[in-house]
Amino acid sequence: MIKFNAEGALGFLPEAPDYKAAEKALRTLKEGTGEGSGFLGWVALPKSYDKEEYARIKKCAARIRDKAEALVVIGIGGSYLGARAVIEAMLSPRYNEIPRKGPKIYFIGNGISGEDLAQVLQLVEGKSVYVNVISKSGTTLEPALAFRIFKQFIEKNFGKEEAKERIVCTTDKARGALKNLADAEGYECFVVPDNIGGRYSVLTPVGLLPIAAAGINIDKLMEGAAKEAEICLKEDGSNPALAYAAVRQAIYKQLGKKVEILSCPSESIRFIAEWWKQLYGESEGKQHLGIFPASCVYTADLHSMGQYIQDGERMLMETFLCFDVPRVKVEVPFWEENGDGLNYTAGKEYRQVYEAAKEGVKQAHIKGGVPCMEISAAKQDEENLGALIYFFEAACGISGYMQGVDPFDQPGVEEYKKNMFALLGKK
Ligand code: PA5
Repeated sequence: MIKFNAEGALGFLPEAPDYKAAEKALRTLKEGTGEGSGFLGWVALPKSYDKEEYARIKKCAARIRDKAEALVVIGIGGSYLGARAVIEAMLSPRYNEIPRKGPKIYFIGNGISGEDLAQVLQLVEGKSVYVNVISKSGTTLEPALAFRIFKQFIEKNFGKEEAKERIVCTTDKARGALKNLADAEGYECFVVPDNIGGRYSVLTPVGLLPIAAAGINIDKLMEGAAKEAEICLKEDGSNPALAYAAVRQAIYKQLGKKVEILSCPSESIRFIAEWWKQLYGESEGKQHLGIFPASCVYTADLHSMGQYIQDGERMLMETFLCFDVPRVKVEVPFWEENGDGLNYTAGKEYRQVYEAAKEGVKQAHIKGGVPCMEISAAKQDEENLGALIYFFEAACGISGYMQGVDPFDQPGVEEYKKNMFALLGKK
């Protein structure tokens, strides 16, 4: 269960957060009476997902784990961030360097860098390679270009027939260039549901296949999300998603703070923050409104961004993301000579040192005029990550409706594409 604590923020507000408006926004979401109601498939997803397809995901992931030395996951934005976030949070950002069973996993097609692409090609050369290409529209240039290259790579190295075994597509159930290609070539397909937008799709085959192929227990992920859904859909004060939405909107509207920093406790959570940034930025940043989502990894970023947060323009609010129990315990050793003068930390577990740093930072930032919130999960495991994903999705839907925008469209994303296609001479 996810906990939300607003003690470090409420004192800044001239008026109480508008919890009634948050409840109304939640009702709009549940009843499907607001803008973008065609994209609410994620609300009931943790219970109502397609069980037959889910079983197929597990089977395909087991096959990939058994046969592949490298899995290349091709996708961008909502078609990649969620999977990478869960994989890094569960395994480590160094997951390909740490010995473990199953394939190495490379994400590509999330940009237009020839250098990145060439490096992945080099890394997988000579290996048993499988590809999962993920694109709901099937027309996004970045993953489509990467897929063109990896399709050729697979066909050249394994032949066209074996490509049917090695290429798996996650796309629209009936339409789009990727679906047409997959049908023509005989690739296995998984469906991005019509009623779920990219940034809400991590618990669909979009995220679940790569996550399961990494050896992560997706049953537990879904269980965590399902339990949290029960809590986050309640229209009362016990709902932490409702409270988070109400408080961040109050800070934005009453105090004019326009930037929210999600502060994370370790490198392994960096991509949770990247996923969160897309979720909130794409959902709320429209009609010249919206809180700009930013992120820091502490304490590393205190040595780069700490000065600004403490002392720069007062446009910030901050949300600390915490996991109560560390996954790994490391104790600071005693040193007889105390050559570095650090014996005051001897015998302390690393988490104790981090907690002191975090509390110190929070107090300093509050004193410096930054309203601070805290979101915490018990552990960094599948169940809690599933819960955290659902919590953030629900809070985002509520917050978007409180802001008065459609939290489920992204019209602004098309602008750069039009220019890029024109410059590239697309007909
Ligand atoms: O949230 C979104 O809709 C976007 O981030 C998309 O997920 C992203 O642009 C990729 O789109 P597609 O899956 O159609 O290739």
